[in-house]
Amino acid sequence: MDKLAIIGGNRLDGEVRISGAKNAALPILAGALLTGEPVTISNVPHLMDVTTMIELLGRMGAEATVHEGMSLEVNAARINNCDAPYDLVRTMRASILVLGPLLTRFGHANVSLPGGCAIGARPVDLHVAGLRAMGADVEIEDGYIRARAEHLIGAHIVLDQVTVTGTENLMMAAILAAGETIIENAAREPEVVDLAHFLNAIGGCVSGAGTNRIVIEGVEHLRGAEYEVLPDRIETATFLVAGAITGGRVCAKRTRPGDIQAVLGKLRETGASVVTGPDWVELDMQGRRPRAVDISTAPYPGFPTDMQAQFSALNAVAEGVGAVTENVFENRFMHVSELQRMGASINLQSNTAIIQGVEQLTSAPVMATDLRASAGLVLAGLVAEGETVIDRIYHIDRGYECIEEKLQLLGASIHRIV
Ligand code: UD1
Repeated sequence: MDKLAIIGGNRLDGEVRISGAKNAALPILAGALLTGEPVTISNVPHLMDVTTMIELLGRMGAEATVHEGMSLEVNAARINNCDAPYDLVRTMRASILVLGPLLTRFGHANVSLPGGCAIGARPVDLHVAGLRAMGADVEIEDGYIRARAEHLIGAHIVLDQVTVTGTENLMMAAILAAGETIIENAAREPEVVDLAHFLNAIGGCVSGAGTNRIVIEGVEHLRGAEYEVLPDRIETATFLVAGAITGGRVCAKRTRPGDIQAVLGKLRETGASVVTGPDWVELDMQGRRPRAVDISTAPYPGFPTDMQAQFSALNAVAEGVGAVTENVFENRFMHVSELQRMGASINLQSNTAIIQGVEQLTSAPVMATDLRASAGLVLAGLVAEGETVIDRIYHIDRGYECIEEKLQLLGASIHRIV
């Protein structure tokens, strides 16, 4: 199993090109199932989760061709089965995103209940309730969601809780439904907006994405299109934290600063100078130690839960005490015990981690437990004394494209042990 070895202490300095967003590429790839005409999706990040989604589409009979620079052509003209089996779904929770497209286009779908990151129970009840409201007959049996509907009918859906993939699944299901669907308390994440733009590019009729009320007018036919995935805001923010934690300077290029305002505000609070341009952000810590910050995660535009572990690592070496509260997922503090093994002073009380910054972390063998937790451990490794070896690094390969190459180019001492 691959590991990452990091020798801490280098101050990062340089530019990094940000990849396309995983969490937009996955729903858009699933959305390619909605049309029988080819779609070409560019700026797709080269990641394990993307490979898994392509394999999933392939098992259903879709053809995917990779063109230069990770532009992907998907042709779902000849779908011969509507099953998403356990062996693929268990490795990636986002596989649930094929449910809405399959059901609305083909009238049936069997999708295994998801696995993915082990961060809390993460149910899919809201996806199911929304589809039922649109007239689907959905049963959960033998670990599968079995859904049927001759023709979905537009509905007025009020989500009990803000759910990103839930909003996306229902948006896609509604696109070919009869009449109008309204999703209230919808997720406002930029990736939801990106999916809406893609759906409109293939002939759908979605408005209100980016607000908490999305309206979808069902259409009868969808076409092919070319679409470019938006930049990854979590990758952007992770590299900026890498700059801050090492006292360095990092300029993230080909990104969208407007999508990470909550994170940039917190980075400024740490004492970093943060300057933004139309498609870049530069953070400069000028050799200083960051100040601790309080974090409280919330759906967009709040502080993203996907940046919680990285800021926990930052607080672990910051000056002062920072309280990190996780409100989106239960049990998303698996990185805490690993950071403690590296000398972090963290007191976990229910869903809040009180982190007292220490002058110096020390290296230790640690284990990646989920995608973003492992990013937090990489950041801690960048400043720990000695060599930190992170095991189970496949978690990070699910969501960060070429992380060690990108960090090396910024001056980090990091390499993969196979
Ligand atoms: C997506 C992101 C993930 C991010 C998360 C929150 C993708 C592929 N993944 O995950 O990186 O961490 O948003 O920003 O886009 N919930 C229910 N019932 C449901 C659905 C969700 O109770 O049917 C709960 C979850 O347990 C969780 C909360 O709602 O507590 C938010 O989860 P959700 O937004 O659905 O996360 P994902 O879409 O899985």
